[in-house]
Amino acid sequence: MQHKKDWYKDLVIYQIYPKSFKDGNHDGTGDLKGMTEKLDYLKELGINAIWLSPVYASPNVDNGYDVSDYFRIMEEFGTMEDWEAFRDGAHERGIAVIMDLVLNHTSDLHDWFLMSRSSKDNPYSDYYIWRDPDPQGGPPNNWMSVFGGSAWEYVPERDQYYLHLFAREQPDLNWDNAQTRDRIFDIIRFWNAKGVDGYRVDAISYLDKGLDGRADMNEVIGTAACVNLEGTHRYIKEMSAKTFAPDNLMSVGEVNINNEQDLINYSSSSSGEFNMSIPFILPIVEIETWSPEKMKRDLKKEYEVLKKDGWWARFLSNHDKPRQVSLYGNDGAYWKESAKMLASYLHTLPGTPFIYQGEELGMTNIQYSSIQEYDDIDTRNYYETMLQKGLSPQSALAEAQRISRDNARTPMQWDSSAYGGFSDHRPWLGVNPNYKTINAEQQMADETSVFCFYQKLIALRKEHPLMAHGDFQMCCDETGPVIAYSRSLNGETWLAVHNFSDQNQVLCHEKIHTDTPVILSNYENVQLHSKTVMLRAYESVILKLA
Ligand code: NOJ
Ligand code: CA
Repeated sequence: MQHKKDWYKDLVIYQIYPKSFKDGNHDGTGDLKGMTEKLDYLKELGINAIWLSPVYASPNVDNGYDVSDYFRIMEEFGTMEDWEAFRDGAHERGIAVIMDLVLNHTSDLHDWFLMSRSSKDNPYSDYYIWRDPDPQGGPPNNWMSVFGGSAWEYVPERDQYYLHLFAREQPDLNWDNAQTRDRIFDIIRFWNAKGVDGYRVDAISYLDKGLDGRADMNEVIGTAACVNLEGTHRYIKEMSAKTFAPDNLMSVGEVNINNEQDLINYSSSSSGEFNMSIPFILPIVEIETWSPEKMKRDLKKEYEVLKKDGWWARFLSNHDKPRQVSLYGNDGAYWKESAKMLASYLHTLPGTPFIYQGEELGMTNIQYSSIQEYDDIDTRNYYETMLQKGLSPQSALAEAQRISRDNARTPMQWDSSAYGGFSDHRPWLGVNPNYKTINAEQQMADETSVFCFYQKLIALRKEHPLMAHGDFQMCCDETGPVIAYSRSLNGETWLAVHNFSDQNQVLCHEKIHTDTPVILSNYENVQLHSKTVMLRAYESVILKLA
């Protein structure tokens, strides 16, 4: 596909987590054939881009985020021909293909690393971050990896340690080496030539490790110590100029944002890095610190900072977070209302919405009854850490359930047949038992379903440029659970109002009257009065003010 300069602003992106989407060859694991089978479903939903979490060859220590060969497709997912068939099927339906680039680290089974670790003197010896042991013995510094334990691993062949900010099996690449960078850019060029339309770039805030004294040595977690250093921005600019920008390929970086400048660097066009960014927040931090008030503060700030020259990636869910209806909504009494309210919130904000598979059905968190049923490396490590802290196995399990990335990774619920129609073979990860009531087949046939509500929102976005491009203004109190804002473009103004609570609420706005047109709502009979709208539990209303 040819792309105009700002085309990414009109995308509605659907994230597929391949392992859990659809099994096309009856082995219990999702794959490319399965994805291709479901392209009509996505077309019907209305999205116009798919972001595929990694499908490259991988030993799957971190579900594909540990790549052993960037030029091959993971065997479990199929072949390059299967990928090409998927690409063609998507393009025929007007759906862009966005690949996930994992470039901070490779798998420890990647050829580069196997060579690099073999000796101090080989063509790849400087492709990774190697350091001598501390003079007193032990690792070069006290950095911990994101998934627990030291961020350094000793290799006797070199009598040195290598750095892994994530799992031990995910050694960090050395971006300071110009030759390594060129080889990395060759990977991107290879996929560009295969017709990829854009990229989501994984964990990209830590390229410059600052081990020459610039890292913050008060931080113990390696990613926090070296986050957002000068070299990282320099390398991203170089990558963008050489690989994404020439063909206007869409780019979104998964980054750490600690202040306004970070937001500008990663998500404004003048800085030449990405079109937009996905801020990474640890699940536990998000679970413990989110609130409607915080959302309001963030919305306002991010809008002000980027409105001139930047863009926003909008998402409530991904493969690293709990299910949005379980986290920000109510997956019990108000399951349907809150799932729709969150959808309405996501699609009425300025920026590009990202839908994570299953979100359009209101899929919920999972609670497996034993730690053995969990697959996520992070959940398992976290469980062990909790036991070491002295928690009982039962409490450690409860803690792990809360943060587990498997909440988002249970198989897609396609219908009410065995295994939710995901596969006819026992799936790699247990299906959520609620598949009998929450599934695509049932929702596609029900006008009032969460799925149909997503369809309506996406269709509205296509019809009304105001939803992506309109000005944004907060129209609610700084406190309280109601989030309301107006969107305006070319003399037209909408007001979106969302109740993030199970209590009745009121929103006052001087332009509301009893017959203000309602564009969409998740309740029948919107309660409009002069200058107010009354809101029931998790009610969401979009009004046309002018
Ligand atoms: C962020 C990805 O989203 C996550 O799933 C992965 O574990 C880490 N980066 C490491 O690649
Ligand atoms: Ca399969």
